[in-house]
Amino acid sequence: MAIQIGDTVPDFEQDSTEGRIRFHEWLGDSWGILFSHPKDFTPVCTTELGAVARLKPEFEKRNVKVIGLSVDPVSDHRAWAGDIKETQGVELNFPLIADADRTVSDKYGMIHPNADDTLTVRSVFIIGPDKKLKASLTYPASTGRNFDEILRLVDSLQLTAVHKVATPVNWKHGDDCIIVPSLSDEEADKLFPKGYKRIKPYLRVTPQPNL
Ligand code: BEZ
Repeated sequence: MAIQIGDTVPDFEQDSTEGRIRFHEWLGDSWGILFSHPKDFTPVCTTELGAVARLKPEFEKRNVKVIGLSVDPVSDHRAWAGDIKETQGVELNFPLIADADRTVSDKYGMIHPNADDTLTVRSVFIIGPDKKLKASLTYPASTGRNFDEILRLVDSLQLTAVHKVATPVNWKHGDDCIIVPSLSDEEADKLFPKGYKRIKPYLRVTPQPNL
């Protein structure tokens, strides 16, 4: 069965470009993003890994550890890292799991046999400090992911984990938020001192509360 939002994500031990990883221990108290790639030495994956390496400071600002995976050995990952540096102009600055025996891919359902029975799809698992799944995405091999969108998603997850708000369509950090419908107006009056606009009883808009 697929891992669902709210589930504790599977722990595992596997080799990586930064040595043996015990996943839950490696995550510690951080948020985590585990993302898979179909294969080493493939063009779209090369651009994705370069983009994630460039965004590493943004993930760090948000207390998020990033870790990639493909079903190839560490020796291939290391050689590929050289290509990433050469073509994307950035060092691979986060671990890449070498899942040649598919330990992790099988636990996380990253291989979708009707798409390809040996390579992983482009999975993304966003994990909270409680080791529970907060969000996941699945893209086919042919479409590179938008990691700016993944950062935006992290911003929303971290905000809504702490404040009783939800984020509307196309929201980005700094935009107005929506007060969760389960809160009464009286409770909202207390929790949102900056005030809110009551467009409908269920649609109440307030400035982002943590700014
Ligand atoms: C790629 O990363 O470029 C790729 C990998 C597998 C199939 C198609 C494209």
